Amino acid sequence: MNVLEMLENQSSLPERYKTMAIAEMEQRVKEIKEYFGEKLYIPGHHYQKDEVIQFADSTGDSLQLAQLAAENQSADYIVFCGVHFMAETADILTGDHQAVVLPDLRAGCSMADMADIHQLNRGWKIMQEQFGDTILPLTYVNSTASIKAFCGSHGGATVTSSNAEKMLKWAFTQKERILFLPDQHLGRNTAYDLGIPLEKMAVWNPIENTFEYEGNLEDVQVILWKGHCSVHEKFTVQNIEHLRKTNPEMNIIVHPECTREVVELADMAGSTNYIIQTIENAPSGSKWAIGTEMNLVNRIINTHKDKEIVSLNPHMCPCLTMNRIDLPHLLWALESLKDGKVINQIKVDDTTSHDAKLALDRMLSRA
Ligand code: 13P
Ligand code: SF4
Repeated sequence: MNVLEMLENQSSLPERYKTMAIAEMEQRVKEIKEYFGEKLYIPGHHYQKDEVIQFADSTGDSLQLAQLAAENQSADYIVFCGVHFMAETADILTGDHQAVVLPDLRAGCSMADMADIHQLNRGWKIMQEQFGDTILPLTYVNSTASIKAFCGSHGGATVTSSNAEKMLKWAFTQKERILFLPDQHLGRNTAYDLGIPLEKMAVWNPIENTFEYEGNLEDVQVILWKGHCSVHEKFTVQNIEHLRKTNPEMNIIVHPECTREVVELADMAGSTNYIIQTIENAPSGSKWAIGTEMNLVNRIINTHKDKEIVSLNPHMCPCLTMNRIDLPHLLWALESLKDGKVINQIKVDDTTSHDAKLALDRMLSRA
């Protein structure tokens, strides 16, 4: 079933949850968690709202949540507080007896939507004609299960922002060129850190089916799919220049989904987990401007009152699709399970799941 079919099949949030008091919803979630015990597992991505994350059995970045899903044997129900591609990954990595539920099926990811399998099949054919069998596909986990399956069945792997460098190094032991999708920025930032010059990176435009590249294509080592995160692209060079002028003592730390120019000017760049750890280990009184998703930045601000922390972009909003998972949807999903009804289940078909697992396993065995 594709996402559109799932959306048509889903019923929407019943009225009663829209008017229920927060305290009552919280109490009901607590009771259902107690009722199911180990049979229920709620993973929560760091970008989720506090009203949801307070009920997560584990919190983590994409890599940690994929590892935890793969390890979990005991839960019959995995109610995933994150976005669609994360729930798909959990379904691929868990057993057939385990059902993965996404409390609101509208919780997608605009970056993952920037690469569809038909575009990839079309683009791959042109790339093979241009470069022959010299390319290994690597996909950021922020991608659909079909894209992961394509990578798995072509010898490639998935990566997350925590292990992109390690995986890119490995990829170059397999083939002389890499296709990195769907996030051009993570691909470019990682390849650059490995010493690959920008002149050896071409951008693949999947709408026009063309390379965006000035030089001789034979020199290309990394092909970057033209996709991006609409949240992280909102951190700009102007934000950094303004901060350097007004508050020069601030350390600037950003996620590698930000543009090359922003990463270049920042003091540090790294995955969600790297950002959390860096601030945790920073001395009391230190000053930080963070360039990542706002729910997480607010949580970091609230847990480190001894440090001065701001968002790199003062007008930043949370990731809207992550925010679709809220307390009413979580309670609705849980109460439905208690009534014996699995709503909003994420189920990847067997063939796609098999091939996507090849790509995920190649990553997890090296993580
Ligand atoms: P990580 O959890 O890998 O840092 O990814 C960030 C992100 O944008 C998730 O959607
Ligand atoms: Fe997708 Fe960006 Fe939101 Fe992550 S933060 S879910 S990459 S849109």
